[in-house]
Amino acid sequence: MRGSRISGMGHYLPERVVTNDDLAKFIDTSNEWIVQRTGIEERRWVEGNVGASDLAFEATKEALEEAGIKASDLDMIIFATLSPDINFPGSSCILQKMLNAPGVATLDIRNQCTGFVYGLSIADQFIKTGMMNNILVVGAEVHSSGLDMSTRGRDVTVLFGDGAGAAVVSASETDSRILDSKLHADGTQYDILMVELPASRLKERITADMLDDARHYPVMDGRNVFRQAVTAMPAVVNEVLEAHGYTPQDIDLLVPHQANLRINQMVARSLKLTQDQVFNNIMRYGNTTAASIPIALHEAIQAGRVKDGDLVVLAAFGAGLTWGANLIRW
Ligand code: UT7
Repeated sequence: MRGSRISGMGHYLPERVVTNDDLAKFIDTSNEWIVQRTGIEERRWVEGNVGASDLAFEATKEALEEAGIKASDLDMIIFATLSPDINFPGSSCILQKMLNAPGVATLDIRNQCTGFVYGLSIADQFIKTGMMNNILVVGAEVHSSGLDMSTRGRDVTVLFGDGAGAAVVSASETDSRILDSKLHADGTQYDILMVELPASRLKERITADMLDDARHYPVMDGRNVFRQAVTAMPAVVNEVLEAHGYTPQDIDLLVPHQANLRINQMVARSLKLTQDQVFNNIMRYGNTTAASIPIALHEAIQAGRVKDGDLVVLAAFGAGLTWGANLIRW
């Protein structure tokens, strides 16, 4: 049976560590508030002109090396980000140039926190149909250049970090390690977590007045997103497990999107999972959106938390709204 598996992973975080106390120097916030409400202790922010593809490039080199292939062996690059280097073309093309892999197909996906989960599913489908053999799925974000660095934006600014994570998905002629994915969205709520500008639906995409009104910064109805995340994530985890006759007790490791430690603790409680069954690293990196799951999964592997044959579930919820889960037999 032809199937797919993750053959290599990599991740990269900028060196600059920004603590909660660092933020409190220019925003009316405190280490206590941020830790209590989110679990975040520090995050990484880039310095100078660094784009999402610069971070993705570092993560990709590591993933390709582990997979034992060259960039030119890839059939496609899938790039998930909400913070592309430039407006267009997509960051997948910029990364392809950096990798010196002309001719390799490129695909950008805009699914925010669920970007990696969607991307992995897309790669899985292209491989299972036999159309492709090696696909790079990379999630990378540079949030720091797009955050409101004043008290006005404090509910969002303290949450986000920069980083990248990458996986090479390869064909297997004997079995499939990526077992399934369940993907969902609710576009009726697109505006409860968004960045509006620059907006093609406006006659002028961006003006000085709009900038004065801070419409180029993220806005979020945090409580609303929180409430829905703690319901949708357990539901989609159960959905993908039940489709294969598993229960949450069969999970060896759940790697949830890292948006808020309290969300992940509530998801774990709702699924009756032990601490050993869940991996969190939001304390050190904040919310890196499309990069959070591949960074966390790779760190979990490096920490010996994922062994051959383990049942691994990846689950995400975020802007769009979008949510989903992947089921993997490692
Ligand atoms: O990855 C994408 C998906 N995103 C998420 O999943 C995020 C989901 N939401 C959350 O994680 C939480 O809603 C937040 C962490 C964003 C906020 O926590 P909360 O417990 O829901 O706080 P809140 O928004 O209800 O605000 C409570 C208070 C407010 O003050 P008042 O009105 O009670 O006086 C805020 O103004 O906390 C204030 N506040 C802050 N105080 C200090 C908001 N942000 C800050 C801050 N520092 N950074």
